[in-house]
Amino acid sequence: SFADLTSGAVTGTIAAVIGHPVGHSLSPNLHNPWLAGAGIEGRYRAVDVPPEVLAGAVPAFRDLGLKGFNVTVPHKTAIIPHLDALAPVARQMGAVNVVAFDEAGKATGYNTDGTGFMAHLKASVPDWPVDRPALVIGAGGAARAAIVGLLGEPLPFVMITNRSRDKAEAIASEIGRGRVTVVDWADRHAAVGGAGLVANTTSLGMKGQPPLELDLAAAAADSVVYDIVYQPLMTDLLTRAEARGLRTVTGLGMLVEQARAAFRIWFGQLPEVPEGQIAELEARFR
Ligand code: ATR
Repeated sequence: SFADLTSGAVTGTIAAVIGHPVGHSLSPNLHNPWLAGAGIEGRYRAVDVPPEVLAGAVPAFRDLGLKGFNVTVPHKTAIIPHLDALAPVARQMGAVNVVAFDEAGKATGYNTDGTGFMAHLKASVPDWPVDRPALVIGAGGAARAAIVGLLGEPLPFVMITNRSRDKAEAIASEIGRGRVTVVDWADRHAAVGGAGLVANTTSLGMKGQPPLELDLAAAAADSVVYDIVYQPLMTDLLTRAEARGLRTVTGLGMLVEQARAAFRIWFGQLPEVPEGQIAELEARFR
C-alpha cells in the first residue's frame, strides 16, 4: 500500500503504477520481468492511491528515489496539477499515463497510450490501409489516445462516432487539427464501408458489458478491425470480423506497447519481451 511505501515497510521500489483500485493491474507482470532481463535492480509495484492522497504521491515517490510511475484510472487527468512539466502529447490529450523524475527530481508527465495503440497496430498488421480514413468508436480517454496516434499517420482523415455526440465533437475540436470528422452514432454502420481501420475504444464487449453493436457488412475486404478490449481477447466484434475474413487486432498488445514505451522513458532502453510472456498473459483472457 501507499502507507507501506512511505513508512519504509516496503523497500527496493524503482517504479510503480498508481490507481484506485489497482489490484488487478497487469503492469507489474510486464515490468518486473523486463527489469530482471535488463539487469536493473528494484521492483515495480502496484500502489493503491485513493484520490484524497493523490497530492502526496509525487513528493513521496520523488523522496523514495523512484525513476517514475504509471498513472491509471481515476488519476490520469487529476495528476496534472501535481507535476512540474508536461510533454506535448500529454498536454494535447489532457491525460498522463507515465510520470518520470529527472536527476533533479523534476516530475514530467507523458502519455504513451497513443504510441502503444499505433505500435501494436503496426506490429500486428504492417500493411494496414492508410489510403482511407480510420473510424474510431467511442470518445473517452482511449479514443483520444487512438486519435492522437492515428493523426501521426498519413491517413486522409479520422472519423469518430460516439453515442453522446457532444463528446465526439469536443475531441474533434480539441485535438482534431482539422482532420477529424464526427459521424452520427446512427450512421456508424455505413461509415464502416469507407474505413480502412475500424477501432473500438469503448468498454463495450468487455466481460460483463453488452457487445458493441456494429454491422460489418459494408466493410471492404482489406479493412482491419481493432478492439482495445482484451478481456476477453476475442470480443464479439473481433469474432464477427474474423468470420467475414477481415484482419483483426486484439487489445492486449496496446497495453504491452504503452508499457514498453514507459520503460524506455524511465530506463533509456526498450525492454526485451521474454519468450512466452505475452502468450502467458493472453492465456488468462482466452
Ligand atoms: P475510457 O476513458 O476508458 O475510454 P470512458 O471515458 O468511460 O472510458 O468512455 C467510455 C466510452 O464508451 C464512451 O465513448 C461511452 O459513450 P458515451 O460517451 O456516450 O457515454 C462508451 N459507452 C459506454 N457504454 C456504452 C453503451 N452502452 N453504448 C454506447 N457507448 C457506450
